Amino acid sequence: MILKNIVPWGRSFKEYKEIFSLSESDLGKSILGCGDGPASFNSELTSQGGNVISIDPSYCFNSQQLQSRISEVYDEVMPQMHTNKDKYIWESIPTVEELGAIRVSAMEKFIADYVQGKKEGRYIEASLPNLTFSDKQFDLALCSHYLFLYSEQVSLNEHIKSLIELCRVAKEVRVYPLLALNGELSPHLSNVMSELNELGFSVSLVNVEYQFQKGATQMLVVKSV
Ligand SMILES: C[S@@+](CC[C@H](N)C(=O)[O-])C[C@H]1O[C@@H](n2cnc3c(N)ncnc32)[C@H](O)[C@@H]1O
Repeated sequence: MILKNIVPWGRSFKEYKEIFSLSESDLGKSILGCGDGPASFNSELTSQGGNVISIDPSYCFNSQQLQSRISEVYDEVMPQMHTNKDKYIWESIPTVEELGAIRVSAMEKFIADYVQGKKEGRYIEASLPNLTFSDKQFDLALCSHYLFLYSEQVSLNEHIKSLIELCRVAKEVRVYPLLALNGELSPHLSNVMSELNELGFSVSLVNVEYQFQKGATQMLVVKSV
């Protein structure tokens, strides 16, 4: 993996909670955060006594490397957010500046926790579609802003393989958003849902509380039956 190719842009615990409609009972479960990158979900949930492991290919880098890439990406993404402002709902996050502050704060929490979290085995370098965890090791797997978002870069087959793998390691899988980078519903979604249905999984679309990118109102929930 090349550092220049990663785009670290991490969300906060509060955003994950809303994105995945996480109840207090969910937060007490054993959780896998898949493609967590520099999100602060792991750091914040761990400090509240939660049980979470994050995987991401970018965890092959050390904290200095990730920090310097985070700073570069911040300078690239913020002007893009100004340009694409009308694609978002500016309510719970009122301005682009506030968004920047939320993201910086989340990524600072991640960086501050990274060395310790790696020692504790909470940040593990790994990539979908192949994970080394045991069958049903987790109660819940969460995948925020990777599957479906990168529909152009990640093939339909890789989406299906990744979801089957997530269902192998977790009793329940939640994925958000279901829109691709162009803001349109992922072209893979209906094929992925049909394939998983045929394989005998329970598959549903569930409305979420989180309102930010226009049209990103639902998560995919997949369970083994
Ligand atoms: C846009 S970031 C989302 C970060 C975090 N989940 C969030 O919502 O704030 C996408 C993440 O997916 C990770 N990623 C890329 N390829 C992956 C793969 N094959 N398996 C798992 N994660 C991957 C990237 O390294 C990056 O950290």
